[in-house]
Amino acid sequence: MNRILVTGGAGFIGSHLVDALIQKGNQVTVFDNLDRQVHPRGLPNHFNLRSTFIRGDVRNRQALKEVVCQADAVVHLAAAVGVGQSQYQIAHYVESNIQGTANLLDILVNEKHRVKKLLVASSMSIYGEGLYRCRQCGRVKPELRKGPQEIEGSTDREKVRISRSDWEPKCPRCGGEIKAIPTPEDTPLIANSIYAISKKEQEEMALLIGKTYGLPVVALRFFNVYGPRQSLSNPYTGVTAIFLSRVKNNHPPVVYEDGQQTRDFIWVGDVVQACLLCLENEKADFQVFNVGTGKPVAIGQMAELIIQLLKKKLTPEITYTFRKGDVRHCFADTTQIRKALGFQAKTPLREGLLKLAGWARKVEAKDRFEQAAKELKEKGLT
Ligand SMILES: NC(=O)c1ccc[n+]([C@@H]2O[C@H](COP(=O)([O-])OP(=O)(O)OC[C@H]3O[C@@H](n4cnc5c(N)ncnc54)[C@H](O)[C@@H]3O)[C@@H](O)[C@H]2O)c1
Repeated sequence: MNRILVTGGAGFIGSHLVDALIQKGNQVTVFDNLDRQVHPRGLPNHFNLRSTFIRGDVRNRQALKEVVCQADAVVHLAAAVGVGQSQYQIAHYVESNIQGTANLLDILVNEKHRVKKLLVASSMSIYGEGLYRCRQCGRVKPELRKGPQEIEGSTDREKVRISRSDWEPKCPRCGGEIKAIPTPEDTPLIANSIYAISKKEQEEMALLIGKTYGLPVVALRFFNVYGPRQSLSNPYTGVTAIFLSRVKNNHPPVVYEDGQQTRDFIWVGDVVQACLLCLENEKADFQVFNVGTGKPVAIGQMAELIIQLLKKKLTPEITYTFRKGDVRHCFADTTQIRKALGFQAKTPLREGLLKLAGWARKVEAKDRFEQAAKELKEKGLT
């Protein structure tokens, strides 16, 4: 039996992983500060009481040390999670995600412990734009888009035209049309938010320390994870949960740009399988893996699917506005994790969303989207 510490184990992905680890006969300790934005009512009902819960903050080295020193393996999921919010709560995101990880690594290097493996939760957001192909120039990685409102010298009429049709990034070499292709792990990283920078730093610090001291570390770049237990009242993270919360409250989901931007949505159960394989298999050690499906889904389509599944008579509200830093397309190249560990996401989107809708009908969802959107606007981010 292994003693596994899951930081952030009361959260969305963590709680599913904890269930699976217990199911496999592990002894699990959860270290989580029950961040009020994620857990407004404290420890969630779904929390697995067969695990040991310690309320603690990864920013507190002493408290973290006590749990790390009891563990055989650590899965580090605790983090402040929210791309837009990280652009104005900068110190909070840096302290939670970078300093929190620094504390963990500092303990692993300087204290007596028996940890034999560390998994860290990285994110697709560290890529910025995904990879594209240009007919003339081959594989290219565009810079972040400026957004229509920033195009200098454009008249109002031009702005409208741009905002409705010209969302796609252009080839950084020849300026021509480009098409999104799967993004592999060796794509250059252009982190486009403080959250993304914090995840990139976390990943690099963990791998560096792992390699330096011979401690097996695995960094998992999760794409857009969806499933039950993602907070439906937290408007800062998880587009699926935000749309669900809107639709459940009979409000149209609000879609930025023209709705044709795409993401890679992966079912939480598949993410848990990827984590288990990485914990169990030595071939994962010191590797970075994309954890996605490899299939792009348009955000506007996701909004429509959620409306359909909740059987509501609503139409997505397409805003044709740009959120600074948003990427147009990014979906996973999943070759590396498939070759190394035989992992492939199994759950089709419709099947996952059906299960998610069934769960969403039964739980409370406070629609706080307007408040989050107002904050972005006030900070000049939309
Ligand atoms: N959900 C996704 O789509 C997604 C995508 C990419 C990466 N990730 C990463 O996966 C991990 C888990 O994400 P999630 O979706 O389950 O988020 P979540 O917000 O549901 O879970 C995070 C948990 O961490 C806890 N936490 C936050 N700050 C903490 C601190 N300072 N000390 C201790 N605990 C703290 C929270 O209370 C929460 O229970 C995060 O590291 C996130 O960056 C998630």
